[in-house]
Amino acid sequence: MEHVSWTRMEDGTKEDYEFLAGHYTEHSQDELVPNLVNLLKVLEGPKLGYQIDRYQHSLQSATRALRNDESLDLVIGALLHDVGDAMAPANHSAVAAAMLKPYVDDETHWVIQHHGLFQGYYYFHHMGGNRNGRDVFADHPHFDACARFCELYDQNCFDPDYPTLPIEDFIPMMEELFGRESRVPGIAPIDMTADMHVN
Ligand SMILES: [Fe+2]
Ligand SMILES: [Fe+2]
Repeated sequence: MEHVSWTRMEDGTKEDYEFLAGHYTEHSQDELVPNLVNLLKVLEGPKLGYQIDRYQHSLQSATRALRNDESLDLVIGALLHDVGDAMAPANHSAVAAAMLKPYVDDETHWVIQHHGLFQGYYYFHHMGGNRNGRDVFADHPHFDACARFCELYDQNCFDPDYPTLPIEDFIPMMEELFGRESRVPGIAPIDMTADMHVN
């Protein structure tokens, strides 16, 4: 069978869906890391007033995490923490967290999901906001991890002189992490309830 015979999903058979799942699973797994690298490279170019672009910022974040012997989850979390910036500027943290969720531990997922708010500790007060907005999560078990992430791997990662590693050094790590079995149950990439609870 080259392709299914129908144009409406309701007409498909069990055999059709087994055939389609084979194609989809193989394709999506083969393409995942290259696609993520391409998404990251969308951030390359404009510096937007900083001294480095957001692609270099991402690499610097991951490099610092790697050199600090952080877990694979956190290193790749650092690499991709701003990957949502280009397509979801209003909620980039949530986008990156959702992309990572099937493959990383709960703490890393929470850290990436909330890094935008926690990062505000370093500048919200200069823009009329509340730098302590993160304190709504003061009792959360991952509060310290998120504060630490922003201190060590985000707010300080705008240095043009830092010896940042190239993306090639992280590709084997991405392949390992994204080669893991998904922690999100089911084959459908739809989990409408999982992100509804922020704490
Ligand atoms: Fe960010
Ligand atoms: Fe960042």
